[in-house]
Amino acid sequence: MGFPQVRLRRLRRTETLRQMVRETRLEIANLIYPLFVTHGKEVRQAIEAMPGIFRFSVDKLPEEVEEVASLGIPAVLLFGLPEAKDEVGSGAYEPKGIVQQAVRAIKEARPELVVIVDVCLCEYTSHGHCGVVIDGEVDNDKTVELLAITALSLAEAGADIAAPSAMMDGMVAAIRAKLDENGYERIPIMSYAAKYASSFYGPFREAVECAPQFGDRRSYQMDPANVREALSEVEQDIQQGADIIMVKPALAYLDVISRVRDAFNHPLAAYNVSGEYSMVKAAAQNGWIEEKGVVLEILTAIKRAGADMIITYHAKEVARWLTLL
Ligand code: PBG
Repeated sequence: MGFPQVRLRRLRRTETLRQMVRETRLEIANLIYPLFVTHGKEVRQAIEAMPGIFRFSVDKLPEEVEEVASLGIPAVLLFGLPEAKDEVGSGAYEPKGIVQQAVRAIKEARPELVVIVDVCLCEYTSHGHCGVVIDGEVDNDKTVELLAITALSLAEAGADIAAPSAMMDGMVAAIRAKLDENGYERIPIMSYAAKYASSFYGPFREAVECAPQFGDRRSYQMDPANVREALSEVEQDIQQGADIIMVKPALAYLDVISRVRDAFNHPLAAYNVSGEYSMVKAAAQNGWIEEKGVVLEILTAIKRAGADMIITYHAKEVARWLTLL
């Protein structure tokens, strides 16, 4: 049967009908809110390229997470700006490192809020690379050892989920082993499994001052042209013990999200990254797009493509809109 018996517009006629046949629903429970933690006291510093996003000192975090939790957002993802950086990123695995302090403060203020920690060295190395540089190259196996002790140190501080983002081979297995040896077998790993060498990270690198001082990240992050390789990355990470897998960025990689969703059963997160956020904010501030509509459409598309969880700087505003709907 076809037209005129079939009329697909019949079920689009009213909002009630549209709601009944809606295939994808964005929910507050799907959102993860990234937070930038900096050194100092009483700091709430705007990040210029990311309107509405701030760097907070540890003492200012309880107030911020109070708001996040009261909006019903289940989880935050932490990034740190240490006071000093060095060649081996020591700030990442110091017991009193900036994120370790932040985790303690957040768990004290809001124990039920899930605290996910980014496990990477780029915010802590003087050269801005995600690992240890030996003879001008990022050394995989040495970096993996440091990532494992970083994850352990963050688990000791009380982190709920470790999210390694350095794109080193074997990092998930090393972190799993280190956590298990030390009694943290209950801590899940959310692996940035398919993380691309993307120009969409620009505003984030300004936010945490982690742009590489020489070269780029293309020898460890993925080539944006590849999708089969993403499936191999995900497969490797699952074999190594990842509990949640991630595709990053999200918007220009909906096909990757969809392919990963079809090929694997693990919970899947997608990272709606800084550049995706900044583009929307800039256009909205110019009055060129209707912000709420565009943001909800983008996040719904990421979910429709197959993501279960969405890491997004829009999380707080989206939680407010979804509450008012
Ligand atoms: C660190 C890291 C980056 C992002 C998340 N973790 C930057 C990078 O790899 O250069 C980007 C997040 C964003 O753009 O919002 N490895």
